[in-house]
Amino acid sequence: MNIVILTGAGISAESGLGTFRDKDALWAQYRIEDVATPGAYARNPALVHEFYNLRRQGLRAAVPNAAHFALAELERRHQSGFLVVTQNVDDLHQRAGSQNVLAMHGELQNALCANCGHVWLAPDLMFPEDRCTRCEAMSCRPDIVWFGENVRFLDQINEATQTADLFALIGTSGNVHPAAGLMNLARECGAATVEINLEPSTVAFAADRVILGRATEQVPVWVAELLSE
Ligand code: APR
Repeated sequence: MNIVILTGAGISAESGLGTFRDKDALWAQYRIEDVATPGAYARNPALVHEFYNLRRQGLRAAVPNAAHFALAELERRHQSGFLVVTQNVDDLHQRAGSQNVLAMHGELQNALCANCGHVWLAPDLMFPEDRCTRCEAMSCRPDIVWFGENVRFLDQINEATQTADLFALIGTSGNVHPAAGLMNLARECGAATVEINLEPSTVAFAADRVILGRATEQVPVWVAELLSE
C-alpha cells in the first residue's frame, strides 16, 4: 500500500514553531511581499535575512513532537511506498527519524547561493554581505522557495500522489498551491483520503474522513489505528 502524507505548519505548531494564518501568526506580523518574495530580497535583503534568522533561531530551540515521531514510526513499520511531502521548512520530520521526506518549500537550516546554486548548512545568522562558500559571490539567500518561485520535487510529488492508496493531509490550511491540490488529485486517482487538522482546511471536501484536533493527540491515534489493521 502506497502512503503519502502532506504536512503543513500545524504539525510543528506544538513544537513551538509558528503557523502562518492562525490568529496572530506569521502573516499577521509580517507582509509576505516584504519578506518572502524574490522582490523583497532584491529590495531589502537585510530585512529578509532578519526574518529567516529569527525563524532559524526558533528552529534551533524546537524539537519534534509526538506527531512527527508517529509518522516516523509508521514509515518504519510500513514496508513499501511511504512518503512525507512537507510544506514546512523545519527539519523536524527528519529529526524525528522520517527518511523519505520531500521539502517542497525548501529548508530553513540551509543557505543557498543565488549565483551558483550551492547549498550549505546556514550559520545561525545570515547577512547580505555573506559570501557563498563555493563561488564567494555576495549572493547568499535562505534555501527557501518564495512566493512566485517553483516548488521543489513537484514531478516526484505528483507521481507519488497519483499512485497513492492512502493520502493524509495533516496541519495545513490548504491555502497554497500546488500543495493544496494534492489531496483532491490523490482522491481522483483512487486513493483513500484523510485530513487531520485543528480546523477543516479549504480542501476538506476531498477528505473521505476529517479528524479534528491537535496533531500531537490525533496523529499518534490515527497511526496506531493503521498499524493495528
Ligand atoms: N494540530 C493540528 N493542526 C493545527 C495545529 C495543531 N496543533 N495548529 C494549527 N493547525 C492547523 C490550522 O488549523 C491550519 O489548518 O494547521 C494549519 C496551519 O495553516 P497555515 O498557517 O496556513 O500553514 P500552512 O497551511 O502550512 O501554510 C502553507 O503557506 O506561507 C506559506 O510557505 C508557507 O508552507 C507555508 C504555506
